[in-house]
Amino acid sequence: MTSLFSPLKIRNIEIKNRIVLPPLVRFSIVGTDGLVTDELIKWYEDVAEGGTGLIIVEATCVSSDGKLRENQLGIWDDRYIEGLSRVADKCHEYNVPVMIQLHHAGFKEKIKDVSSETLEQILADFKRAFVRAKKAGFDGIEIHGAHTYLISQLNSRVWNTRDDEFGGDFLRRMNFSRLLIEETKELFDDDFILGYRMGGNEPELSDGIKIAKYLESLGVDILHVSSGIPNPEYLKEEKVEVPEEFPLDWVVYMGTVIKKYVNIPVIGVRKIKKEKHASWLIENGLLDFVAVGRAMISRPYWPKVARKEYDIRNGIKNS
Ligand SMILES: Cc1cc2nc3c(=O)[nH]c(=O)nc-3n(C[C@H](O)[C@H](O)[C@H](O)COP(=O)(O)O)c2cc1C
Repeated sequence: MTSLFSPLKIRNIEIKNRIVLPPLVRFSIVGTDGLVTDELIKWYEDVAEGGTGLIIVEATCVSSDGKLRENQLGIWDDRYIEGLSRVADKCHEYNVPVMIQLHHAGFKEKIKDVSSETLEQILADFKRAFVRAKKAGFDGIEIHGAHTYLISQLNSRVWNTRDDEFGGDFLRRMNFSRLLIEETKELFDDDFILGYRMGGNEPELSDGIKIAKYLESLGVDILHVSSGIPNPEYLKEEKVEVPEEFPLDWVVYMGTVIKKYVNIPVIGVRKIKKEKHASWLIENGLLDFVAVGRAMISRPYWPKVARKEYDIRNGIKNS
C-alpha cells in the first residue's frame, strides 16, 4: 500500500516520501536586496535534514518592481544565481530535490487596465528567470499561479475582465500561462520539471478543475492546489462546499477533487499538521503529496516526528 513514506518519481526526480515543504516567504531572514542570506540557507538545510521529500523554495520575484514585500528573494538579474545555487546545493547535500517558486505580485483588480506591453515585458522577465533558475541548479520551477498574485489575477474571471489576448474568455485568460509554458519548453526535461501552484477556487472549484485539466494538457508535471481569488459575494473565506464527512480544510478538499480530474501528481495543502491526517490523504489515494507549511516552520524535523508516529500507529519497531 502507498504510504506517506512511499517514494515517488516524477520524470527522473526521485522523491523519497510524500511530504513537501510548500513555498514560505521568510521576510525576516531576507534583506531588501533580495539576495540569499546565510540564515536562509540554514533554514533550508534544517528542512532538508528534517526528512522532507521535496522542498519548494519560497516565492522569488522575477521583476524588480513585482515584489509582494520589500524583503523578498529576487531572480530578476544574473547576480542572484550564485546565492540561489547555494540553496539548491545545500538541499542536494541531503539528497532532497528542490524546486523554486517564481512569482510576480501583479496589480490586483487593476489587472484589467494594465497594458498588454507591460504584460509582455513581465512574460519576458519570467522567461529569463526560468533560465536563471535552471542555471542555479534547481530540479524544477513552480509557477506561482495562486493567492491573488499576477497569474492568479489573469486566470481569474472575477478580476480579469480584459478583452484582448490576455483576457476575454477562458483560453485568453490562460494565455499568459500558456505562452510562458510553451515558450520555455526547451528548458524542461527529465531532470528539470515544471510545477504550477493554482487556485482551486478561481473563483469556483469548477473553474479550478478546468484550469487544472488545461495545465495538464500544456505539459505541467505537478500541480499544487491552493486558493485563488474568491467571488466578491462571499462574505467569509469558506466558499467551496465541503462534504460534512471530509475532516480537513476546504483547500485540501479542493486538491482531492482536482486530483480526480488529472493524471499528474497533485500536492494538497493547508492546516495539515498531524501525521495521521497526512497519512489518511496519501493512503486513500486522495492526494499524491501533502505540503506542510507553518508546522514545518516551528518544526523543520516534522517528517522525522511523523515517521515515529507512523511507526507507532502501525506497530513498526525501529531497528
Ligand atoms: C509565512 C508564510 C509565508 C508564505 N509564503 C508563501 C509563498 O512564498 N508562496 C506561496 O505560494 N504561498 C506562501 N504561503 C502559503 C503556504 O505555502 C501554505 O499554502 C499555507 O501556509 C497553508 O499551509 P499550512 O497551513 O501548512 O501553513 C505562505 C504562508 C505563510 C504562513
